[in-house]
Amino acid sequence: MQSHLDHRTNIHVAIIMDGNGRWAERRGLPRSLGHRAGVAAVRRVTEAAPGQGVGTLTLFAFSSDNWAQPADEVDGMMGLLRGYLRCETARLERRGIRLSVIGRRDRLPAGLPQAIERAEADTRGGTRLHLRIAVDYSARDAILAAAHRLGGGPATREAFGRLLAGGDEDRRDVDLLIRSGGERRLSDFLLWEAAYAELHFTDRMWPDFDAHDLARAMADFARRDRRFGGLTPAAGRTAA
Ligand code: IPE
Ligand code: IPE
Ligand code: MG
Repeated sequence: MQSHLDHRTNIHVAIIMDGNGRWAERRGLPRSLGHRAGVAAVRRVTEAAPGQGVGTLTLFAFSSDNWAQPADEVDGMMGLLRGYLRCETARLERRGIRLSVIGRRDRLPAGLPQAIERAEADTRGGTRLHLRIAVDYSARDAILAAAHRLGGGPATREAFGRLLAGGDEDRRDVDLLIRSGGERRLSDFLLWEAAYAELHFTDRMWPDFDAHDLARAMADFARRDRRFGGLTPAAGRTAA
């Protein structure tokens, strides 16, 4: 459970990185170049995050429904992920950023699960930021899988949340959920963990998203009055 006190530091920000394809199409470029530009935005935002009070950053890179996109575009995105892991791991390690990948691994192309495991192992010591990248991820499938693991056992929110996170000890609710690209929907991302997340939607296409956009979202978040179903603690009310 998060308290109202850790409001401004160690924030868990989750981002639905949408709009790569439209960004490219508007420029008369192939959609694959939009995805490539999206990787550069990932690097920018990841490196800006620790300085803006973000402790955990969960990025939606590829949804379980994205397998429905054309095969060459899917192959291109998988190639970008492979390249990201190859080029970025040492840099993440140097910057104290720990990388995890969430989502299914059994449908990824050959070699990619091993590359993910290596990157996770190499960055395990990072303490400045926990970067979680969601690949072949579906919140509903994750919830179903956790329910399956629970069997008939008693279900508290805590216990279920632990099952949902698998082995990830950094199990946290989302504080701020950002979606770029102009759509205002969740598209099956972190449905359980975002129960009390503040939502921030921006028309900025993901390849254009930068540290200033993150700062704007964080400033918006800081102005929100989070009540978690109760009353605002700052309102000076006394208990009856
Ligand atoms: C976001 O870009 C990345 C993925 C979904 C993999 P899109 O591919 O959804 O781009 P748009 O929404 O068509 O612009
Ligand atoms: C959500 O975006 C998934 C990612 C950004 C990875 P989509 O573009 O796949 O979602 P919809 O189709 O607009 O809902
Ligand atoms: Mg999209």
